[in-house]
Amino acid sequence: MPSFTRDIRPLFRQEDIDAMAYAFDLADYEEVKAHAEAIYARVADGSMPCDAAWPPEQVALLRQWIDAGCPA
Ligand code: HEM
Repeated sequence: MPSFTRDIRPLFRQEDIDAMAYAFDLADYEEVKAHAEAIYARVADGSMPCDAAWPPEQVALLRQWIDAGCPA
């Protein structure tokens, strides 16, 4: 089962965290959990990150984490 600290947090680069600080903190567990479906929607349609879409395995890992109830 994926966890935020071990599996999800490392998916976010410093430039992602800086770019999205106006909306939420991608380095913070509670904030990513609160915005999980909005984050998933944008990485799944490839519109985020703005510079380079995630590979499908990363998108699937995020989905797995959300479906597991967003473990810390
Ligand atoms: C994994 C990394 C990222 C995720 C998950 C992400 C996710 C999102 C989400 C959910 C929104 C909608 C926020 C809202 O207004 O409620 C958004 C908007 C936006 N993001 Fe990102 N973002 C990421 C990286 C980036 C990067 C690297 C850039 C550019 C340097 C960027 C630029 C923007 C901009 C300009 C918007 C507002 C315009 C729009 O909605 O397309 N984001 N992003």
